Amino acid sequence: MKILIIGGMGTIGSKVSSHLSNKHEVIIGGRTRGDVIIDISNSDSIKNMFETIGSVDAIICIAGEAKWADFDKLGEEDFYIGIRNKLMGQVNLAHIGKDYLNPKGSITLTSGILADDPVIRTASAAMVNGGIHSFVQAVALELENEIRINVVSSGMVEDDYEKLKDVFPGHNPIPMHKVINGYVRSVEGNGNGEIIRIYD
Ligand SMILES: NC(=O)c1ccc[n+]([C@@H]2O[C@H](COP(=O)([O-])OP(=O)(O)OC[C@H]3O[C@@H](n4cnc5c(N)ncnc54)[C@H](OP(=O)(O)O)[C@@H]3O)[C@@H](O)[C@H]2O)c1
Repeated sequence: MKILIIGGMGTIGSKVSSHLSNKHEVIIGGRTRGDVIIDISNSDSIKNMFETIGSVDAIICIAGEAKWADFDKLGEEDFYIGIRNKLMGQVNLAHIGKDYLNPKGSITLTSGILADDPVIRTASAAMVNGGIHSFVQAVALELENEIRINVVSSGMVEDDYEKLKDVFPGHNPIPMHKVINGYVRSVEGNGNGEIIRIYD
């Protein structure tokens, strides 16, 4: 398969890219580095990327940001950071990308445990993750040409444990092979509209 992995050089993305490239042709998209430069928060950038790389068999997005702050300190514009970037970035990627997918292709998005099990300072980030879950379940009912869409929702990954352990007190770090398998299941399996939760 020809697989596009946006965020394929990040903490999670680099492990997923490395695993999938053993078996598939992988194209890495990133905001500042990769085989193709792409900013998912900009629709023109998404379109330009697909015009450059052409059709693919799978689109994986392991990128997207939202602002973390105390609810009291989050202004309206702060909420729009996550809405424009992680939420609408992935919605637009699916919307534009479906026309560049070969029949029976797949789209795999990324959310995170905050959708189901938030910690403090995540009113925006958790909201965005929940929105991605609802989007995937709804749009899976409408995609044509046997195109599938799923979302991988993992807990704090083991490679980020030192960075994140204080903001996820008592959470168990998720082994990287389990996170990788969430993406493998979405791309190589047959599931559609699934929220692939990897929380322990
Ligand atoms: N780390 C965790 O424990 C964890 C757990 C669950 C869910 N998640 C979610 O998984 C996703 C990836 O997390 P991560 O920890 O792997 O992040 P990361 O290490 O910061 O990597 C993110 C990657 O995505 C790229 N990127 C960021 N914004 C982009 C944009 N607007 N357009 C295109 N590419 C963009 C970055 O490229 P540049 O470096 O070139 O900017 C980078 O390669 C995030 O949405 C995060 O919320 C993470």
